[in-house]
Amino acid sequence: MKIEDLRKLENETERVSALYDIFDEGTRLSTKSTQIEFLTTIRQIEKHLRSGMRILDLGAGTGKYSIYFAKHGYEVTAVELVEKHVKEIRDRVSLDMPIQVFQGNALDLSMIEDNTYDIVLCFGPLYHLTKIEDRMQCIKEAKRVCKANGKMFFAFISNDMVITTETFLYTPDFLLSDLYDHNSFKVEDFPFVFHTIDDCRGLLRNANVKIISEVAADGLSELFADKINSMDEESYIQWLNFHFYCCERPEFLGASNHLLFVGEK
Ligand SMILES: C[S@@+](CC[C@H](N)C(=O)[O-])C[C@H]1O[C@@H](n2cnc3c(N)ncnc32)[C@H](O)[C@@H]1O
Repeated sequence: MKIEDLRKLENETERVSALYDIFDEGTRLSTKSTQIEFLTTIRQIEKHLRSGMRILDLGAGTGKYSIYFAKHGYEVTAVELVEKHVKEIRDRVSLDMPIQVFQGNALDLSMIEDNTYDIVLCFGPLYHLTKIEDRMQCIKEAKRVCKANGKMFFAFISNDMVITTETFLYTPDFLLSDLYDHNSFKVEDFPFVFHTIDDCRGLLRNANVKIISEVAADGLSELFADKINSMDEESYIQWLNFHFYCCERPEFLGASNHLLFVGEK
């Protein structure tokens, strides 16, 4: 199936599954440049993580975060919509890992009681839920199952940075196309859903989530992927340190493909 054909699929689960037949999620975070998102996000989570905490990973993909934390001894529950990804997680899990894997939808966590998890990760559903009421529902479910003193982590794809990466990396005639509104600069939500920083803040506030930090998860990594991937180890470590320094500064937030919001009840 070609990307354009996804428009014909009205059922969200079928559309997301078909999208991940085109994009290989299993290798997405495996290069020097794409790892930056993972390493930045882990660093943010670890600021709040204490021994014995329980973690819920919504939209767990092929298990990059779930398996990382399970290997570090945390009790993890992974919920993932796409059957192929669920199978990949299960294939990677070993018997000694404290992890439960469910095929399910982040919109309906009725199998989980209120106030169950210390840490709730939501890195994926908000890239895919096309209806705003579904995105609200997803955030409300994450909040419901999070403990009173727990922390929630929500990832979004930045509308404004997408215009830059599309133009300079993938679609040279993007600026002249009708793939975005030429006045508001809102990009068409296809094949992913894009949010401005204000959209993210609005959604979380409307769901009564208190935002405690806002992070430029991958910064310029996608734009400069080729250059970052060819860096020697020493320069890469220094670039990573510079990114860690920049990523929590408000002036860098807009210049990041992925936005990470940390919240509490
Ligand atoms: C880009 S991947 C991210 C995977 C992983 N969380 C990460 O950050 O590396 C997005 C994942 O969210 C899953 N997803 C999308 N909508 C979902 C939903 N409503 N409920 C559960 N998972 C969903 C997709 O199937 C996909 O595996």
